[in-house]
Amino acid sequence: MRLLGISGSLSRGSRTSRLIQEVLDVAAQEPGVETDLLEVSHRGIVFCDGRPPEVYEGETRRVIDTVVAADAYVVGSPMYRGSYTGAFKNLFDLLPNDALSGKAVGLVATGGSDHHFLALEHQLRPLLSFFRAYTVPGTVYAQNAHFIGSGLADDTRVACRLLAGEVVRLARAVESGQAGPAYPVIVRRPDQQKP
Ligand SMILES: Cc1cc2nc3c(=O)[nH]c(=O)nc-3n(C[C@H](O)[C@H](O)[C@H](O)COP(=O)(O)O)c2cc1C
Repeated sequence: MRLLGISGSLSRGSRTSRLIQEVLDVAAQEPGVETDLLEVSHRGIVFCDGRPPEVYEGETRRVIDTVVAADAYVVGSPMYRGSYTGAFKNLFDLLPNDALSGKAVGLVATGGSDHHFLALEHQLRPLLSFFRAYTVPGTVYAQNAHFIGSGLADDTRVACRLLAGEVVRLARAVESGQAGPAYPVIVRRPDQQKP
């Protein structure tokens, strides 16, 4: 199982990436689980400009292909203005509609305070639902008080461990890739058809 972490942070020494890495490290202890972390900050990802996902090239192409090839995900973003970052959303704008269909996803977010923890439910989860992904019910949210030096608060580490276990368990349960009935077909404008 290829479990891919996706961090929507652009900052150096990202706390969001640290949190996702913690979940990945626990998951990697499970037999057959390979993990990798994709940080939008480290890649030359262009802005989605409305073209079909197939036509992007270079680093953007490699990033799209990396996401599509994964079997399950731990997806996270810092809170920016009560939601995920623009860079995080841009990555999802670039993906084919079926990129995550029927795959398991764990959700993670960081913020400066507790105020926006529910953005996991009303911002991140609906975005993943668009892709017809299976999101694990529990989430990990950490704010400044949960980051202690280079470590994490005990309850945050426990939350990461639980999320890792649930993502792997759900990924194994939905291995068949079935995601239930299809959404209506989205027809592209004629000027945005595939070449
Ligand atoms: C532009 C900007 C907007 C932010 N908006 C929020 C916010 O709405 N709610 C919140 O809790 N924290 C907010 N923060 C704080 C970050 O979410 C927080 O510091 C986060 O842990 C940073 O994660 P990172 O280290 O992965 O970049 C904001 C930070 C920035 C730079």
